[in-house]
Amino acid sequence: MAAEQSVGDLNPKEVLKDLVTKASPFWGAERVTAIRFLETHPTAQTDPDVSILALQGLCYKEAWGSGLAFDGDGMILGPIKRLLQATDRLAEPDRNRQLLSRLEGEFHELRDLASYRQFQSGIRQVVPFNPEVPGDPSNEEAGVLVDESKHFYLFMKLLEDTYGISVTPLSLKNAQPSADLQLQDVRTQAKRKHKAVGGAASHFTEGGGSAIFHGMQQFRTGTDYQRQWARVGNSIYREEVRHLTHGAHEVAEQIHTQDELSPIAEVVGDISWHRVLMRNQIFGNPLTILELREIKNGNWEAFIPSPLRQEVFDD
Ligand SMILES: [Fe+2]
Ligand SMILES: [Fe+2]
Repeated sequence: MAAEQSVGDLNPKEVLKDLVTKASPFWGAERVTAIRFLETHPTAQTDPDVSILALQGLCYKEAWGSGLAFDGDGMILGPIKRLLQATDRLAEPDRNRQLLSRLEGEFHELRDLASYRQFQSGIRQVVPFNPEVPGDPSNEEAGVLVDESKHFYLFMKLLEDTYGISVTPLSLKNAQPSADLQLQDVRTQAKRKHKAVGGAASHFTEGGGSAIFHGMQQFRTGTDYQRQWARVGNSIYREEVRHLTHGAHEVAEQIHTQDELSPIAEVVGDISWHRVLMRNQIFGNPLTILELREIKNGNWEAFIPSPLRQEVFDD
């Protein structure tokens, strides 16, 4: 975009082009962390400590979605609390309040198929909702709840089936990887400095372009263990692309000028870089120091999920 453009002349597509271009080398790097991890861990017995830490780290991320718009509450408990605060505006407020309070407790104890099914059926009773219908905030919140609790369940199940290790969101609450804490700090500062649009930039970077899930799908013809990961990646990929697209629109709608765009593009780059460090730690540091130096400067093969690529770059 030309520097001489005057105030108010950016359209959302131009904004998105710039932000996606900024983030996409980092998404490419996230994708590589998952691919290298699975290449070097073809079976559950190959360096199991690394696999266990990776699965626990991924469970943590899905349960607590650190540094996103819901602060320390994550992407499941956060929306529940927000819906609880908004029950007066929902139909049947008393019934919804009761249900949401119950879900708040059940979330912490998600541990198996039975508790997961009960939780999912509870969400579906909260408000009459259809996650495919855009525009209703309660629909969107409930859609996130359905998706993120499923993502948590899939990684939790893989950890339990493979290693017999059981986790719940409650048991993981204090197991935040150190690189994730740094990412959380970067997002918190962005929100403090740039208010709503800083929060929207965090949303846009949620899921890291869904890149690791795309990478996992590559292993659908691999070993048993790799195929299990590929199935999980396949099940999550499209949902995270939907969250990403939603976040992309949210941020683009709030930016109208080059002066507004430049600092947010910096924020998107900074968050995306810290996401790479977080994924690299979760997957046992597959990226070298030299590679990380290149990635930090944005010198890396980009990855853009095809629905977003079509929307932003196809004319
Ligand atoms: Fe997720
Ligand atoms: Fe998500």
